[in-house]
Amino acid sequence: MIFCAVLGDPISHSLSPRMHNLWFQREGIDGCMIPVRSSVESLASNLEALQRLGFKGANVTLPLKEKAFQLSDARSDASMMCGAANLVCFQNQQITGDNTDGYGFTWNIRHIVPGWVPRQAAVIGAGGAARAILAALIETGAERILVTNRTKERISHLPSALLSSIEIVDWDHRDEMLQDCDVLVNTTSLGMVGNPALPLRLDALPKSAVVNDIVYKPLETPLLKAARERGNIVVDGFGMLLHQAVPAFHAWTGVTPTIDERFREMVLSS
Ligand code: ATR
Repeated sequence: MIFCAVLGDPISHSLSPRMHNLWFQREGIDGCMIPVRSSVESLASNLEALQRLGFKGANVTLPLKEKAFQLSDARSDASMMCGAANLVCFQNQQITGDNTDGYGFTWNIRHIVPGWVPRQAAVIGAGGAARAILAALIETGAERILVTNRTKERISHLPSALLSSIEIVDWDHRDEMLQDCDVLVNTTSLGMVGNPALPLRLDALPKSAVVNDIVYKPLETPLLKAARERGNIVVDGFGMLLHQAVPAFHAWTGVTPTIDERFREMVLSS
């Protein structure tokens, strides 16, 4: 029996158990993912307990990703780029920290646009979610990455591996920065149910650009609606959540699970 967990706070809303338990079922693997509510302070003892109980590993979500990274004995390149881990694996009394959010970002877009490679990217936001996306854009070979954030100073807090590969744009110049970009990503919480829409004019954005929003409640944010209406290819944020789970499931089981429309619907409707 394969046991794995997802830790965070809050955790009851997490769709990870639903995704992984559906995959266990579909793949005919005897396994189970359980949610564990954990504070930053109790993460070390919780991981130790899970490890002792024979768990294969865990996904880690807000607000624990940075602490999980610090607690890891070995770290993947992706987690080093972000200074955060969303996946930990237990092996030989060691914790390996990885970050699959960037993988989720890239493969969510490639699911819609096969073979997608970014050239010039515009990224809105510089919070936790932006880190993995910036790392993924660098890793997939983007030539220019323009980043803007309401609070400019926050951009300087990004890990140096990311800072050295981006160009910072004033928040007041965010509309113009879209010129010549072939991908636009919103990494802020603007556009989410209960939040105002992202204040951004798309006029300068080439119509051939891909527009991605990490917000998935609603699935079609005001940004994605505006982009779709002017003819851009739009990629919603729900797929990133689904795709980031693929390498985790593989790490624990050796099996690469598939994401099809039925799987997406089953997770969405839960
Ligand atoms: P996450 O870890 O999910 O990225 P976060 O670290 O709190 O969450 O970051 C939220 C992002 O949304 C930040 O880029 C934030 O901008 P600030 O750094 O200026 O706070 C952005 N954001 C949130 N509310 C915003 C608003 N009303 N206008 C502009 N940006 C906003």
